[in-house]
Amino acid sequence: MAIRYEKEDGIVTLVLDHPTKSVNILDSAFGAAFQESLEKLQAEEDLKGVIVTSAKSTFLAGADLDSMFKETDPQWFFDSTQALKAGFRALETLGKPVVAAINGTALGGGYELALSCHHRIALQNPKLQVGLPEVTLGLLPGGGGVTRLVRMLGLQEAFPYLTEGKRVKVDKALKVGLVDDVAANADELMTKAKAWIEANPNAKQPWDNKKFRIPGGDPRRPSVAQMVAIAPAMLKKKTFGNYPAPQAILNAAIEGALVDFDTASRIETRYFVSVATSQVAKNMINTFWFQLNKVNAGGSRPDGVEPQPTEKVGVLGAGMMGHGIAYVTAFAGMDVVLKDVSLERAEEGKAKVAKLLKKRVSRGRMTSEKMEEILGRIKPSGDASDLEGCDLVVEAVFEDRNLKAKVTQEAEGAMLSTGVFASNTSTLPITGLAEASERPEKFVGLHFFSPVEKMKLVEIIVGEQTSKETLAKAFDYVLKIKKVPIVVNDNRGFYTSRVFGTYVNEGLALLAEGQHPRAIESAGLKAGMPVGPLAVSDEVNLGLIHHIREQTRKDMEAEGQTLPEHPANAVVDKMLEAGRKGKAQGAGFYEYPENDKKFLWPELQSMFGYDADKAIPQQEMIDRILFIQSLETIRCRDEGVFDSVEDANIGSIFGWGFAPFTGGTLQFINAYGLKNFVNRCNELAEKYGDRFQAPASLVERAEKGETF
Ligand code: NAI
Repeated sequence: MAIRYEKEDGIVTLVLDHPTKSVNILDSAFGAAFQESLEKLQAEEDLKGVIVTSAKSTFLAGADLDSMFKETDPQWFFDSTQALKAGFRALETLGKPVVAAINGTALGGGYELALSCHHRIALQNPKLQVGLPEVTLGLLPGGGGVTRLVRMLGLQEAFPYLTEGKRVKVDKALKVGLVDDVAANADELMTKAKAWIEANPNAKQPWDNKKFRIPGGDPRRPSVAQMVAIAPAMLKKKTFGNYPAPQAILNAAIEGALVDFDTASRIETRYFVSVATSQVAKNMINTFWFQLNKVNAGGSRPDGVEPQPTEKVGVLGAGMMGHGIAYVTAFAGMDVVLKDVSLERAEEGKAKVAKLLKKRVSRGRMTSEKMEEILGRIKPSGDASDLEGCDLVVEAVFEDRNLKAKVTQEAEGAMLSTGVFASNTSTLPITGLAEASERPEKFVGLHFFSPVEKMKLVEIIVGEQTSKETLAKAFDYVLKIKKVPIVVNDNRGFYTSRVFGTYVNEGLALLAEGQHPRAIESAGLKAGMPVGPLAVSDEVNLGLIHHIREQTRKDMEAEGQTLPEHPANAVVDKMLEAGRKGKAQGAGFYEYPENDKKFLWPELQSMFGYDADKAIPQQEMIDRILFIQSLETIRCRDEGVFDSVEDANIGSIFGWGFAPFTGGTLQFINAYGLKNFVNRCNELAEKYGDRFQAPASLVERAEKGETF
C-alpha cells in the first residue's frame, strides 16, 4: 500500500510509503490508497484528528511525470486532476483537525497535499525544501496550489511562488508562512502535531469560514486591481509570450480570487489542462526532467568504470575562469592549489573567491565559519612545485598553445603521476594540446562557462587518446562540483561554441542584409535567446570573433580545406575597421555611456544600409535564428561530435541559453515535426543560402518518421 493507516489514541497517522519507488509520488497507487484511507477516516467514530507524514526521506515529491508526459487527452487530465482534488478537499473538510508533519522535501503535488491540511509543521533539516516548482516544467500547480496559496498569502505574496516556482528552505518557509511551525527532530514533529490536534479540535481552513477574505484583498480592491492590470505586461516583458504556464497561473489566480473556493478550484483545473497538454510542457518535461536526470545519472559516463574520486585540485591561472573554478571546487569540499605566475597574482584570485563567499554570508546564505573553512582549503601559489599531491589539475591560463604546453609540462612534473590534467580551453583542440603531455591518455578538456559560479554546464572534451578512466574522473568531478556534465568529442569549437557561433553569425547576416538592428535584437529575444545577437557579439568581443575566425581559416587551410564564406564576416571586418570591438572597449554594436544604459549605435543603419522596404517579418528572423542552431547541432551529430540527444538538448540550454521553452536544439525539431522542419529548411535555403540546407541524415529520419 502506498499509504499506511496507523491509529493511536484517536489520532490516525497516514504514512506515505510508496511500495516500489524510493520517493512518494502522486500516481495511481497513491490515488487508490488515498481514497481508501479517506473512506476509513470518514467511518471512524472516535477520531480526534489526522497526521499526514512520510516514511521516506522526502515527504512527497509531486506528480507522476511519466504519465503526465505521455498523456495527451485533455479529458484524462481533467478527470484525474478533479478526482485527486476531490480527495484533498474531502480531507480538509473532514471536520477534524489535519496536520502535515513535513519530514522531508515537499514540492509540487507534495506541498499541495500539505496545503490541504490545517496546519503545517516542518522538520528542521537544511536539505528540506517546500514550494510549487511546476512552472519550471511548463505546468501549473493544479492540485489546489494556486487556489489555496492565494487564499493563504494573498495574490501579491503568492505570485513569486506560483509564477517563478521558487523553492524555499525551512527558515524562510516559516518566515513567509509556507509552514506554520518547525520541529527539531522526528519525535518533536509528531509530538507537536498531536498537541496541535488536541488544542484545535474544531480546526477549519480559513477559506471555509463564512467571513473569509483573501489577505490583501481580491481583485475588486483598487490597489489589487492596479497590480492585476499591469501583471500580464510585466510577465510578457520577461517571457515574450513563449511560456504559457506563468500566464495561465496568473489567470487562474486572479479569476479564482473572484469566486468561491470550489469554482476557483475548477478554474485552476481547466488552466492546468490547457498547459499540461501544451507542446511547451512536453518540451520542458522531456528536457528538464527526463533528460536532465539521465545526464546527471551518468548517461554519458563510460560503462564499467569504478567511481573516480578527486581530492586535491590544482588550478592554473587565477584569472576570470581560474578563480571561479577554485571557488566551486573548494565549495564542494576539495583542497585547491591556485597557481598563477606569482604568489601575488594567485592571492588576487583568492581575494575574488573571498568576495563571492562574502556576498553569500551577507545575504544570510552562509555562515562566516563556513566561509573561512572554504577559504582555508585554497592555497595560493606562484610555484608549480606546490602542485605536489594533486590528483587533478585544471588549466585556465591565457588561450595560447605554447603557454598551455609549458604549464602542462610543469604541472606533470609535480602532480601525482596517476592524476588527470584538464584544459579549460575554449577553442584549441584537445588532441593537439595533449601533444605536450607525457600522459595523453590522462589529458581531457573541461570547458567551463563564465561566470563559473553561476553557469551550470561543463562540456567535457574527449581527445583522441583520452582514456575511459580519465573521462570518468572528469565526469565524477563535474558532478561533485554540482554542475551538469555533457560529453563531446574533440572538434573545432567543440559543441557549444560551434553552435552558438551560428546564432551570432545569423544575427550579423541579418544586419548585412539591411534589416533594422532593433528588429534583429527583438527577434533574438522573442525567439527565446537570453540576449540579442548584436548585444552578445559585443559581450564576446568582435576582436575575439575575428581572431577565432582567422585561426580557424589557418587551421583549415593547413588541412587542405577552405573556410566557408559567411555574410557575417564582412560585418565583423567593417566594425573592426570602425574601431568598434565591443563592450569591453565601450564601443561595439552598442554605445556604452558611463552612467547610463547601453543603446544601439545609431550609425549602424547607414553603415549596413538599413532599408525599410527589405524588412522581413519577425517570424522569418526567428525561424532563421532557431533553425540555424538546430541544423548545426545535426551536423555536429553527423560528424560524431556528440552521441547523446540528451547532451545536445541540455548543452544548448545550459551552455548558451538556447530557447528553454523549446526543450533544446534537437527537441525543437521534434516539436516542429521533422517533415515540416525539412520543408521549412528548403524554403529558407532557397532564400538565404545553403547553410539552411537540411542534412541528408535529417531528410532520411523525417522520411522514416523517426524523431530525436
Ligand atoms: P584571464 O586572462 O582572466 O586569466 C588567465 C590567467 O592565467 C591570468 O591570471 C594569468 O596571470 C595566468 N597565467 C598566465 N601564465 C601563467 C602560468 N604560466 N602559470 C599560471 N598562470 C598563468 O583569462 P580567462 O578568461 O580566465 O581564460 C582562461 C582560459 O579559459 C583560456 O584558455 C580561455 O580561452 C578559457 N575560457 C574562457 C572563458 C571566458 O569566458 N573568459 C570561457 C571558457 C574558457
